[in-house]
Amino acid sequence: MRMIDIIEKKRDNKELTKEEIKFFVNGYTKGEIPDYQMSALLMAIYFNGMTNDETVNLTMSMAHSGDILDLSRINGCKVDKHSTGGVGDKTTLIVAPIAACCGVKIAKMSGRALGFSGGTIDKLESFDGINLRPDVEDFIKQVNDIGIAVIAQTGDLAPADKKIYALRDITGTVANKSLIASSIMSKKIAAGCDKIVLDVKVGSGAFMRTIDEARELAKIMSDIGKGVGREVVCLLTNMDEPLGINVGNILEVKEAMEVLKGIGPSDITEVSIQLAANIVSIGLSIPYDEAIDKVEKTIEDGSAYEKLREMVSREGGETKYFDDLNLFNEAKYKVNILAPKSGYIKSVATNEIGRASMILGAGRETKEDEIDFTAGCQIFKKTSQQVNEGDVLCCIHTNNEEKIKVATDIILNAYDICDELIDKPVLIYDIVR
Ligand code: URA
Repeated sequence: MRMIDIIEKKRDNKELTKEEIKFFVNGYTKGEIPDYQMSALLMAIYFNGMTNDETVNLTMSMAHSGDILDLSRINGCKVDKHSTGGVGDKTTLIVAPIAACCGVKIAKMSGRALGFSGGTIDKLESFDGINLRPDVEDFIKQVNDIGIAVIAQTGDLAPADKKIYALRDITGTVANKSLIASSIMSKKIAAGCDKIVLDVKVGSGAFMRTIDEARELAKIMSDIGKGVGREVVCLLTNMDEPLGINVGNILEVKEAMEVLKGIGPSDITEVSIQLAANIVSIGLSIPYDEAIDKVEKTIEDGSAYEKLREMVSREGGETKYFDDLNLFNEAKYKVNILAPKSGYIKSVATNEIGRASMILGAGRETKEDEIDFTAGCQIFKKTSQQVNEGDVLCCIHTNNEEKIKVATDIILNAYDICDELIDKPVLIYDIVR
């Protein structure tokens, strides 16, 4: 078999066989197929898409490119949660401890930032000293002991996805439904959980820009799950503006902790409660309303906040921040961006907010870049809110003075202020079971 023939076949929009898919997945993972050929194939897939059979075959080839975790030694139902990626999306840090408090086992491997969207592992590294690379035995023991572990994805888990994902990130080939579905589901299958709750983001800060596209992505992932005997629930949630106020690693961790204390912004609180209730409902096989009651109680009684502290402590992270959120480091420069005119916020180009945060230091432009954990922005004015000229729209945080001007221009352009009243955005569009 030759890679050039596979590229040409896909370029001509023909269906690839299981063997051909296995050939390029294994060849690329082993370093036998060069980046330039894989990039060409990814672009052909990006434009021509994949059939359902091709998507399932790609998922299974990537899932079996490394180890399949055996979590059978963890007692109880293990439910995994994954987001397709957004801006200001810190829900894992909120939902995972809540679900663990309710009795669902959370044995989760998370990723780093991709493009303009943030990653849970980068956020967790805001706690100095944290070790997100324990060995598998310690990971399993931690979940059995305290009900929760969120760690970095090991190199042996779906290594094909890891390599292909990094290449997609720099070749403009992320936003394709088959590639996203196979990337997510290969990791979930390899990670060995029993059931999966997926947060499929829709809007200007998501890879899926329309509800129809997101619904299609949800259906592809549910079908893959069904095929391998894993129950999948997908929530279609709004990413037309950042979730919550804070974007950037420490800023997001602080906001997640505020939500767990019951004092967080209402949109992120609402989405987190719904995600957690779905996890608890399928994890404990209980009705949804009962799950909602349980979830809300863990915030009211402070147990979810304590569960996050317990997890960070067990993973070696500094926990003084749980006693005082002001102990987190802050950026040297904090600059307010003011509304250029009065009116109502019509929209916020969320991907641009993600890009500005990355430029300020919150994300990586190349794989080698170091993250500035204190960098990011706070989006104080959001869709449908009224503003007067000179009101603070956003505050940017950075240690790099040179980046302030460019980030300010991006954010000012991201805001559309109009004269008409605008409806409040819907937070959750649909739940696909
Ligand atoms: N998240 C993933 O894990 N993979 C993708 O391709 C996109 C978002």
